Amino acid sequence: MPRPTPTGVEIPLPEGTLFVSKTDARGVIVYADHTFIRVSGYSEEELISSAHSIVRHPDMPRSLFWYFWNQLQAGNEVFAYVVNLAKNGDHYWVLAHATPDFHPVTNAIIGYHSCRRAAPQAAVNRVMPIYRQIIAEEKRARPHDQCATGMAVLERILAERGLTYEQWIFAIHSDTNPHRHAA
Ligand SMILES: Cc1cc2nc3c(=O)[nH]c(=O)nc-3n(C[C@H](O)[C@H](O)[C@H](O)COP(=O)(O)O)c2cc1C
Repeated sequence: MPRPTPTGVEIPLPEGTLFVSKTDARGVIVYADHTFIRVSGYSEEELISSAHSIVRHPDMPRSLFWYFWNQLQAGNEVFAYVVNLAKNGDHYWVLAHATPDFHPVTNAIIGYHSCRRAAPQAAVNRVMPIYRQIIAEEKRARPHDQCATGMAVLERILAERGLTYEQWIFAIHSDTNPHRHAA
């Protein structure tokens, strides 16, 4: 399926929107809930059996997905702010949480599960300039070196802030969550 051209139009996700997909161990979609189907603009038939990169947006750094997969394949959960491309070229920002599914007997990874929620604009405003910086440096590197170069940029930015990747994600989440003062 040809990649849609980005329109630059953001799909507004109502606060609290949650949606789920599951993949096999290679990242091929095996389940998409109704909200993912609706927001992505693809039919269930188009999503199932497609690689999850069907919704990849060119504004996502390659190195971010490299880190994402590294964490999952090591058996860890991973969080990431992600911009995705819908079938018509519009985009939407989410905070994704992905986890591996383990075989009950062998403990081998048999697939992955991802639940994502709408990312508030304030969070996008903090993440986007950093992704742009990473992508700019990735593009200057040779294709083979892009992930390492992008990771080095991210690590430098995090080190300047004295944060691990997870601390950075959670700081953005807690600073920009509209309900942080509730409860
Ligand atoms: C459970 C799971 C959920 C994923 N969700 C997304 C997603 O929402 N958007 C996305 O671009 N990639 C997602 N990916 C990562 C893709 O598999 C892929 O690595 C990424 O789109 C980069 O594709 P590329 O290497 O072809 O550029 C997900 C992977 C897994 C295992």
